[in-house]
Amino acid sequence: MKKQVGIEALAIAVPRRFVDIEELAKARGVDPAKYTSGLGAKEMAVADPGEDSVSLAASAAARLIQQQNVDVSRVGMLVVGTETGVDHSKAVASHVQGLLKLPRSMRTFDAQHACYGGTAGLMAAAEWIASGAGAGRSAIVVCSDIARYGLNTAGEPTQGAGAVALLVSEQPDLLALDIGLNGVCTVDVYDFWRPLGRREAVVDGHYSINCYLDALSGAYRGWRERALAHEVVRWGDTLPSEQLARIIYHVPFCKMARKAHTQLRQVDLEDSPSGRELTPEAREAAAKSNASYDAQVASSLTLNARVGNVYTASMYLALAGLLHSEGTALAGKRVGLLSYGSGSCSEFYSATVGANAAARMAKADVEGVLARRERVSVAEYERIMNLPYEAPEAITPAPGEFRLKEIRDFRRTYVAG
Ligand code: HMG
Repeated sequence: MKKQVGIEALAIAVPRRFVDIEELAKARGVDPAKYTSGLGAKEMAVADPGEDSVSLAASAAARLIQQQNVDVSRVGMLVVGTETGVDHSKAVASHVQGLLKLPRSMRTFDAQHACYGGTAGLMAAAEWIASGAGAGRSAIVVCSDIARYGLNTAGEPTQGAGAVALLVSEQPDLLALDIGLNGVCTVDVYDFWRPLGRREAVVDGHYSINCYLDALSGAYRGWRERALAHEVVRWGDTLPSEQLARIIYHVPFCKMARKAHTQLRQVDLEDSPSGRELTPEAREAAAKSNASYDAQVASSLTLNARVGNVYTASMYLALAGLLHSEGTALAGKRVGLLSYGSGSCSEFYSATVGANAAARMAKADVEGVLARRERVSVAEYERIMNLPYEAPEAITPAPGEFRLKEIRDFRRTYVAG
């Protein structure tokens, strides 16, 4: 029997504070409906300087190990996907290995390509396991980021922060990957970037949406070609994309998942024998189907709407939200996942939800993690945004979590709760 490889379990970590998105809109003199219905946001995570990509990654990985009783002596690889690095050389993964006192006998590295870094890490780990090079060992892949555009910018309501830690193994209780079917698309564009030495991203917002949709089309077509060849999907009464029970998209803001789904359907309709018979107007109307969006996409967005963009972790937060709400109903069903990282690289892959997904997600307690956060005013959010990043406030982290304590002589030290 072919070896199954995929995600066995996951855990999330978020900053301890969030701001209400309607309150932020009012403070900016913007109609709140623009942020809630125009962008699909409800709440936005607010990271303070003590909550950097290392502390969020370490908190998520520690929670994964504790909640899911992970035998760390069997973990042979630790990858951190991040675009919020803390050093040009020393990997975030090396900090996490040290803070969690993980075995020395593991490969550690960071994977960077904007929001795609997490998927790059996941595929490196899964293919390492599938090839046999892992010799039966598991991997931990942590996606950790702080999305920051700055006060009073167009990107401000699409900020956020957090981390998702994934246990990757030959026991894919959450998601068994269809290794070998993935479709990828790379296009050299300046849609969103983070020049060295800057805390805030530079972004050409509307152009970045077009780049995402263009790259999605290429990656999806690549996956579909292989999925058709392997008879995983077929042209027939339904579109190939409709044969996936759910589709999880990279979520820079929730409304983007709706745009992405419309584009994916448009690609299927343009390429399908039946779709080609339709007028362009009829194809566009069919692509925008609310029924399809409600059935295939909407249920994955509940956590993202409360956290905001988490760059590398955004799609995996959507996966967590989906399996948290529908883990039982989706057991045995195939889903599609679309990862996009600006710059750009995009990957579409498919996977089957495991029979133990609901039980694994119950242990992850994602609702509990969000419920423990504190809501802050817009004034407090602005104060936090203006704090110097090299001087974190002395706050005791919650049990099992980590915070940056200080940076002295360019060395970072962390404190555990
Ligand atoms: P904006 O220009 O302020 O907003 O920036 P807008 O005018 O485009 O309006 C946004 C939506 O609200 C529109 O909906 C409006 O119609 C609607 P749409 O037409 O697009 O469906 N709207 C309203 N709805 C209801 N009531 C109202 C109202 N007014 C307007 N009163 C933008 C929006 C997303 C561009 C900005 O926030 C931004 O630049 N964000 C950051 C960039 C981004 O998220 N890009 C996404 C694609 S790139 C990506 O995903 C990669 C990324 O994650 C980074 C990485 O890879 O590392 C970003």
